[in-house]
Amino acid sequence: MSDAATPTVVLERTGAVASIRIDRPRALNALDEATLRDLARALRDVRREGDVRCLLVTGSGPKAFCAGADIAAMAEMSPLDARAYSALGHEVFDRLAALDVPVVAAVNGAALGGGLELVLACDLVVASEHAKLGLPETSLGLIPGFGGTQRLALRIGVAPARELIYLGRVIDAAEALRIGLVDRVVAADALLPEATKLAGELAGRAPVALRAAKRLVGAAGRSDLASGLAREIDAFSATFASEDRTEGLRAFLEKRAPVWKGR
Ligand code: CAA
Repeated sequence: MSDAATPTVVLERTGAVASIRIDRPRALNALDEATLRDLARALRDVRREGDVRCLLVTGSGPKAFCAGADIAAMAEMSPLDARAYSALGHEVFDRLAALDVPVVAAVNGAALGGGLELVLACDLVVASEHAKLGLPETSLGLIPGFGGTQRLALRIGVAPARELIYLGRVIDAAEALRIGLVDRVVAADALLPEATKLAGELAGRAPVALRAAKRLVGAAGRSDLASGLAREIDAFSATFASEDRTEGLRAFLEKRAPVWKGR
């Protein structure tokens, strides 16, 4: 178990990119309650900093991004405890998904159960060629409890999600790429450089536009098409009130790089 004196989540900052690393390698970065709370604190700090433009999420050690919910802790839980644990996981992952900057997951190894659910709350996913991904909860007599039944289906479609969840199948990075579960697969030693480069590219793009794009794409398919399209018209016109759009269009016409203000 982690304890309050030993944070299990490391938050770092390089320029406009913040990075969160789950740091509990002796339990393969499993998410016990303390780790979920550390993650919530790190996300609160990212929001408070105000000028972060992209977040990178990864795990410590060569083996695992995150091996999921803490199996030893769950072995002692009553149904009521499990409800609170699941609700906490949902709350933290909802906050991650709702962050108003893009989030890149750098999957450095196993992303299983709650570990894959953490990936699913991120926007873009770069995986090491050694990564293994799955929701094996049914092998433990459980179901995914940190959002996986919903976010996996939203990401890859209901039919492939059924197969992965019902059979508890764990797949490799190449298959994950093929079914759209991850966006890029790279050699293990290229993972952080590649994910950091992607995060830097995202951080350099117009913040107001990215914020609106994230909100709209994230809502796609969750309401009827007409409402989603109507929200796009609203958001499109709202970007015209931003300094970023004045700068973006002017910079194009003046043939120079734009300087974004994020407002
Ligand atoms: N919780 C707690 N501890 C875990 C853990 C987990 N999810 N996964 C691994 N560990 C611990 C192991 O118990 C072991 O501890 P000890 O050294 O003290 O024995 C240590 O991490 C190393 O693990 P292994 O010896 O198993 O390492 P391995 O390389 O042989 O296997 C693995 C790696 C394939 C990831 C394997 O550890 C594994 O299958 N882990 C469980 C994955 C899993 O089923 N996750 C789903 C959890 S349920 C869930 O997440 C519910 C939800 O949605 C909310």
